[in-house]
Amino acid sequence: MALSEDFLLELRDRADIVSVVSPYVNLKRGSKTYVGLCPFHSEKTPSFNVYPENNSFYCFGCGAGGSAITFISRIENLAYLDAVKSLAQKFGMNMPEDGYDDTLSKRRGRILSANREAAKFFHSTLLSEEGAEALDYLLGRGFTLKSIRGFGMGFAPDRWTALIEHLKKDGFNESEMVDANLAKKSTKSGRTSIYDNFRNRIIVPIIDLRGGVIAFGGRVLDDSKPKYINTSDTLIYKKSRELFALNYAKNHISDGKIIIAEGYMDVISLHQAGFKNTVAGLGTALTNEQALLLSRYAKEVILSFDSDEAGQKAVQRAIPILTSAGLKVRVLSLSGGKDPDEIIKNHGRERFQALIDGAANDIEYSILEQRGKFDISTDDGKLGFLKAAVNVLAAEEGMLERDIYASRLADEFSVEKSSILIQVDEACKKLMRQRSRKEQGRLRRAAEMMGLPPNRNAKVSTRASKAENLLLSTLLNNPDFFKKLEGSLHSDDFSDEFCAELFKTLSDRVSKGMGIDTEMLNAFFSPDEMSRIVKLQVDGARVVGSLDVCHDCIKTIKEEKIDVEKINPSELSDDDFNNLFKSIKK
Ligand code: UTP
Ligand code: MN
Repeated sequence: MALSEDFLLELRDRADIVSVVSPYVNLKRGSKTYVGLCPFHSEKTPSFNVYPENNSFYCFGCGAGGSAITFISRIENLAYLDAVKSLAQKFGMNMPEDGYDDTLSKRRGRILSANREAAKFFHSTLLSEEGAEALDYLLGRGFTLKSIRGFGMGFAPDRWTALIEHLKKDGFNESEMVDANLAKKSTKSGRTSIYDNFRNRIIVPIIDLRGGVIAFGGRVLDDSKPKYINTSDTLIYKKSRELFALNYAKNHISDGKIIIAEGYMDVISLHQAGFKNTVAGLGTALTNEQALLLSRYAKEVILSFDSDEAGQKAVQRAIPILTSAGLKVRVLSLSGGKDPDEIIKNHGRERFQALIDGAANDIEYSILEQRGKFDISTDDGKLGFLKAAVNVLAAEEGMLERDIYASRLADEFSVEKSSILIQVDEACKKLMRQRSRKEQGRLRRAAEMMGLPPNRNAKVSTRASKAENLLLSTLLNNPDFFKKLEGSLHSDDFSDEFCAELFKTLSDRVSKGMGIDTEMLNAFFSPDEMSRIVKLQVDGARVVGSLDVCHDCIKTIKEEKIDVEKINPSELSDDDFNNLFKSIKK
């Protein structure tokens, strides 16, 4: 099942959590722990804790937690084995060649190879007779052969099984093609068959930072709908975490600036015009994860979305996400075309450069936007606009920026600058009170969520699940108790599936004389489950665990189990009923 114990023990000793986390988080030393701003959610006050003693981390804001391996797998978006590999490499250890279960890692590898093969097939089809019309279309839009080659663009034939046939010849089986989302299943009159997901479309491959083809976007050649078909999420692709063309752009980020456009075609056209620091999202609104990813490569983002309503809405949604990832934001006001591609085609690259040079920053943009909402020629309109502008400035943290814009407003509307600044100050205090109320509510909800397991079984008995959590957190901190409690509890007695699994794994390992520190549990639990385990560990470490506590917990767990069995099924909700049914079946 797993890598050898010896290997993992050595990795744990070498890859100490503080050195693993430090490159990603600015850690400050506390008495027993280190704290910093959580890299997994955006926050202004640090709630991310690193525990050198247990070699683990936990964020009280978002609940992410685990060991060094969990950390790397979350932050680098790697599967368990790949995270182990990356750590081993960094800390100078060779991976053992065999002796671990790598089925998942193999399936990922197969998807990557199938995608690479598919990309080659699409590309050569584009340059063949069958792709003539598609190639004409692209050349007609002004894309050069160099860009087409550089981005590996392709064409998916107008046939149902062209790619499938091709991949079969290369030794891929149907389920691998479906796993990769290159093919889709259909069931007609009881027979299941598969067909090509991408047909009669221009293909744009999406390539990750390591050069792997992880997904595709496919555009129609005419105005039919849907305009794009994209690879849905697979074992190797989560669109909310990736950015199109970051693999190219990351090498062209001079002075910390990156441009975000809305679409594949804009990106390719901008790269072709020399703006190689351009990326795009992948058909969804910009996410926090994407913003954090960007913040690792850039300091400032130039938003260059389409000038239509949808584009401008996307700008509004993107600004707070980007700024809370610590990025500076500027918004291009695209005039002279609906999107960057059109502007460059109609007016040349110089025009786009000029737009970049003169791009308003986000304050200016927000103020301008407010101005549009009021009729400034009337007194009411003026007042309304000033109030709105004051709120924009209040949300802005830089004192200098506030001052500059307060001066401009004061000049334009002949009011005292000091009175604008007083208003800004008031609005700012109000905003802070609101924020802190919100923050507290959020933390409380997060705490509640973590105190009670997310498992639906919790509905059956919260009393049991509290006892189960307490027992496990005591045991995690006092592994010697396992021996003393031997035989007094069975994993079937647990109401919460996760707790049962954890109890089983822990007692198995202890009885075989193996360690139960977090690093050794990674192979058995998902990153989310690892978060829960570390939370239990952290909770348990706060109190002195005693055998009496364990005995009390066990008593409660057993009592509750009997109670659950007495529940009258007709009084249960569907969920509860299913859970009860599951626990009885066990
Ligand atoms: P656009 O419609 O602006 O496409 O959608 P585009 O890339 O600029 O293409 P052209 O220039 O019109 O040919 C922007 C992005 O939104 C996603 C794609 O990622 C696209 O690049 N999208 C759009 C979809 O995923 N599905 C769609 O049906 C449309
Ligand atoms: Mn567009």
